[in-house]
Amino acid sequence: MTAKRRLLDATNVALRRAGVRLERVPASVRDAEPTATQHRDWAEQRATEQLITGRHNTQTVADVRRLSEKYTKPILGEVETWDLLMMLGTCVDPTDGALGAASQLVHVLQVLEMMIAEGVTDEDLLLAALVHDLGKVLLLTDEDPANVVCMNRFIAGEEGGGLGQGITQWNHDEFAYMRLVDVVPRDVALLIRYHSVMPHDLDPYLATSEREFADRYHGPFFRYDQESKSAMRRPSVRIEDFRGLVGRRLPSRLEI
Ligand SMILES: [Fe+2]
Ligand SMILES: [Fe+2]
Repeated sequence: MTAKRRLLDATNVALRRAGVRLERVPASVRDAEPTATQHRDWAEQRATEQLITGRHNTQTVADVRRLSEKYTKPILGEVETWDLLMMLGTCVDPTDGALGAASQLVHVLQVLEMMIAEGVTDEDLLLAALVHDLGKVLLLTDEDPANVVCMNRFIAGEEGGGLGQGITQWNHDEFAYMRLVDVVPRDVALLIRYHSVMPHDLDPYLATSEREFADRYHGPFFRYDQESKSAMRRPSVRIEDFRGLVGRRLPSRLEI
């Protein structure tokens, strides 16, 4: 990745909450004016993102408890784990302007592609990339998208008291954590649970014993998850390349 790309990606992560995104324009299309359709689509995307994020940011501790309770019950029952991954191909995050209309399966492959390009060999990180957004299958139900997507912040808890005693806003992170906590290593489970919390929002709540998790897993994973996103780039890796990893590290069926 070039220094320019790194700078642009870091800036975009910071600007995301404001609904702003910068993109380098290839020299060949620099002079091309956006079409009326593109203008309309961008305006609709911004409006949708603002509406959904606005509702997400009004969640209270009582809402979080209600949603956790609601989803103790299965929504689909037992599903083949591979089929569940394939379902991400039909999930599109309505708030993610960086991905545009790209599916969550494309997103997962973009994360894996970036990890592999940077020489990641830690299988737990690759496993986290595969499963971290499985909770977005909630987008296929009638749940309010404001309870499924968006970034999360802590809304209750004591700073320095440890992640488990804090309460964050509720989205696909908690849903997938509830379903996977017993079948993946602890660090992967924590990545699933907190991957929508920005590192600087997570940091104050960490207990001393959790700092290694934050440095070794949360920070690096957050960067791969956010900076690999592109509405344009078709990933060069294929989901089939990860069948062995899925078969080795996950049960063949999951209750969702
Ligand atoms: Fe996510
Ligand atoms: Fe993601």
